[in-house]
Amino acid sequence: MPSQFEIGNTQSEMLVDSFGRVINNLRISVTDRCNFRCRYCMPEEGMVWLEKSELLTYEEIARLVHIFGEMGVSKIRLTGGEPLMRKELHLLVEKLARIPHIHDLALTTNGYFLAEQALLLYKAGLRRINVSMDSLDAAKFNLMTRRNYYNKVWAGLEAVENLGIRPIKINAVLIRGVNDDEIINFAHLVRTKPFIVRFIEFMPIGMNDGWGPDKVVPSKEIIERIEKGTGKKLVPVEYHGSQPADRFAFEDGIGEVGFISSVSEPFCNHCNRVRITSDGKLRTCLFSLQETDLRALVRGNAADGEIKSVIRGAIAKKEKGHLINRPEFVRPSRTMSQIGG
Ligand code: 5AD
Ligand code: SF4
Repeated sequence: MPSQFEIGNTQSEMLVDSFGRVINNLRISVTDRCNFRCRYCMPEEGMVWLEKSELLTYEEIARLVHIFGEMGVSKIRLTGGEPLMRKELHLLVEKLARIPHIHDLALTTNGYFLAEQALLLYKAGLRRINVSMDSLDAAKFNLMTRRNYYNKVWAGLEAVENLGIRPIKINAVLIRGVNDDEIINFAHLVRTKPFIVRFIEFMPIGMNDGWGPDKVVPSKEIIERIEKGTGKKLVPVEYHGSQPADRFAFEDGIGEVGFISSVSEPFCNHCNRVRITSDGKLRTCLFSLQETDLRALVRGNAADGEIKSVIRGAIAKKEKGHLINRPEFVRPSRTMSQIGG
């Protein structure tokens, strides 16, 4: 390794993998637990949860974020499981919002606790929230999540709307034959509310998720169906930076949708992210088959420099991309709720 990597807090500390991808985005799972049981994610029963002592504490998370921040990470997203199941998450948000290198602090949630927590989170410094909502039909929502919480999630969305947080992004995983008949309803929603719906292609990452290539609704097809169903064209939105979502606005300027085409058009070539699981393992890809134990270092009194060199070593081995579409694809042993979505 060139010696430039050894010097202090400068540009040269940037995290660059062996394919030249610069890592500036860290997703942190704060718990593997969830109060929903989405069918594409986890079974109704039989999930085994981590012990509380296994979870990184807020202090440990903040320390790692500080270290990653010095290495060029500026974007953090808190995920789960359901992150708001973790006690007083706003205290973590407050800590992270104060870390100088972090310019973008976001949360992905199922929305259940938002009505009660949105204000606290906002005051703590959270400005970006994605809410998962796979159906606009209460009965189907209940079927997909195995929970009767449709109204609660709507109340959460309204709380966020009333706080003035914009944009509010809704994540919708489409499964063919289950909720793809709602594409046009989602399109109408983004034209009447300050919401951006991001259609996420169904990925083979849940436990007993029933995934098959035939269940994936490719983004191209969704675009065609929206244009046909609304009679309006979608035009790509120019944006800077690397986001997995391709953004499109309606031609009349009213409403925007996004597409996360992880299966049909993987964005691995410009992937800028890594993940930390709630038990402190660094994963360089959602589909990684190996992890690096950062918790052991943090709890073993490792100095920042040592942690940085382990992080750099792991990122140097970041996978080129996932192999979902290939016969040699192997599912990771942990599921999305255990890894962090
Ligand atoms: N495929 C695609 N998206 C998924 N999510 C959870 N499991 C899957 C899957 N198998 C989504 C959730 C949430 C985000 C964290 O990840 O719906 O929006
Ligand atoms: Fe919970 Fe999210 Fe999994 Fe649904 S997809 S069960 S909300 S972790």
